[in-house]
Amino acid sequence: MAFETILTEAKDGIGVITFNRPKALNALNAQMIGEMGRALDAFEADDNVHVIVLTGSEKAFAAGADIKEMADKSFNDAYMGDFISGPWDRIDSCHKPVIAAVSGFALGGGCEMAMMCDLIIASDTAKFGQPEITLGIVPGIGGTQRLTRAVGKAKAMDMVLTGRMMGAEEAERSGLVARVVPADQLMDEVMTMAATMATFSRSTMKMAKESVRRAFETTLSEGVRYERRLFHACFATYDQKEGMKAFIEKRKPKFENR
Ligand code: HXC
Repeated sequence: MAFETILTEAKDGIGVITFNRPKALNALNAQMIGEMGRALDAFEADDNVHVIVLTGSEKAFAAGADIKEMADKSFNDAYMGDFISGPWDRIDSCHKPVIAAVSGFALGGGCEMAMMCDLIIASDTAKFGQPEITLGIVPGIGGTQRLTRAVGKAKAMDMVLTGRMMGAEEAERSGLVARVVPADQLMDEVMTMAATMATFSRSTMKMAKESVRRAFETTLSEGVRYERRLFHACFATYDQKEGMKAFIEKRKPKFENR
């Protein structure tokens, strides 16, 4: 895959997408988002890719949507052009797990992209924020919704109404990120985590991810019922038989995604 604004690599079951507009701190423009969407399509279609990692540079995961690109848009351009649709939401429809490896700035659309992933691993230099208010706009790709679900109303209002940034430690304490690691160990840590995930049954992983995500869309009793049906369905799979047989025989399972 040849891209100009992202780098991609697939190895050992892990597909990595790296935002690569260093001069603009990885500001998300239409080209980069389009390329990210195509890379995700390719990784989803590739049976050798089990887990996807989305990352940026040490200085910036992404400093938001490209302000220079959107500054002159009219309401009609934004509304009729359906500004922020299509590939902007692509991560949300991924059925393979997506890990955001965040170092430096994850602001505005950058923070929103990270939150769209299944989990965020942050370096101790990471800074999250929704500074749209300082530009005269509101977040546009889920910031007010996903941030509020992740950190609660108090912190979400604090960030969205003041535009302040949240450091990695506060983000972990508040439930926005899963783990914080030293900056120079970020990719090692994420790749080790992804490698572990890549050993599991892909179909079971899909069910597990689907079930956790359902918690954000439904009531507790409906969510539990949904989980129960998936749990029952596991017993129709080869991988459940293999996983449990391997435990009893004290050996590693060999999952076949069926
Ligand atoms: C376009 C950007 C940019 C952005 C940085 N740059 N962020 N260009 N859009 N979002 C560019 C700068 O213009 C500059 O290029 C270069 O990157 C380096 O940035 P500096 O500001 O010189 O770096 P620094 O002083 O280290 O400050 C870093 C920063 C600051 C705090 C992250 O750049 C900043 O505040 N950026 C904007 C953050 C923001 O408001 N994001 C939300 C955008 S709105 P030049 O060539 O000019 O020197 C949004 C809406 C989402 O995301 C809606 C849905 C997608």
